[in-house]
Amino acid sequence: MSVSSRTSEVIKNYALEKYLLELEVNGLTVVPPEVHGFPLEAIDQIVELLLDYAEAMTGSSFSLDQGPERPLYFAEEPSGLTKGAREPGQFLIQQLAHKHRLFRDLAINPVAVGLMGCLIGHKEVRFSSHNSFIKWQGDFGYGPSLGMHADQTAQPLPWGRTALTSNTNWCLTEYSSGGGCLAYVPGSHRYGTPAQFPRAVKQAVPVEAAKGSMIAFHGATWHGAFPKKTPGLRLSIANYYRHQSVTSQEDLSGSFPCDLAEDCHDAALFKTLCGFNDIFPYKQQSEKVPRISS
Ligand SMILES: [Fe+2]
Repeated sequence: MSVSSRTSEVIKNYALEKYLLELEVNGLTVVPPEVHGFPLEAIDQIVELLLDYAEAMTGSSFSLDQGPERPLYFAEEPSGLTKGAREPGQFLIQQLAHKHRLFRDLAINPVAVGLMGCLIGHKEVRFSSHNSFIKWQGDFGYGPSLGMHADQTAQPLPWGRTALTSNTNWCLTEYSSGGGCLAYVPGSHRYGTPAQFPRAVKQAVPVEAAKGSMIAFHGATWHGAFPKKTPGLRLSIANYYRHQSVTSQEDLSGSFPCDLAEDCHDAALFKTLCGFNDIFPYKQQSEKVPRISS
């Protein structure tokens, strides 16, 4: 990790030395609420919003203690990491920044953006996507692989020292080993490769964290999740960031509404992270054209 003046600012303003050292050594760190400063009352409001969205999307009510009230089924075979699951144990609520100002404020939390900038580059960091994982009790989870992967796997090798993507995982409920928390391999970001098996599973350790914590990790860090063997819900938000040169998961630069971008506690930062000011991809003739004089 190169130390730019902006990295120095992040360290100075928020006392993040410990967390940056953990990112450097382990490729992942857990930042507690008293350090990132996002209020626990706002986390509680976000939980209530997500429970309402989950009910509207699935038709079943959800409770933190019991999970979904009614059994749920996928009408179509799920893809991605959930492919092959015998029954649903989680789903994603996507495009959170469209839904409520609280999600936009969370995405521009200065400690989150500062740490992502330290990994990716302060000038180059952008949003990739804002998703919530609604996860409940189930023995299978991601299956024997634990869904282990590195987020920047779509990027061609060799990977360098600078992260091409990096991720935050906001723990809206407590993260425990039996409760289906994140799994990761400490130091795996320095291997510079996609997850290798069976090593990724054998070396995976649980990321246990208190409610309200923010987990930050490098896009090359091998990670997945353990199955949730306890009753109730594990709620989280993955605010995912990218280097400017990497395509975003959600089309924010092209289609995110300007009026919503204005409605947050730092509109200039939100718009920059959306990529509104980037010269690429251009949507019209962007280069000046010489003309005959009139
Ligand atoms: Fe991931």
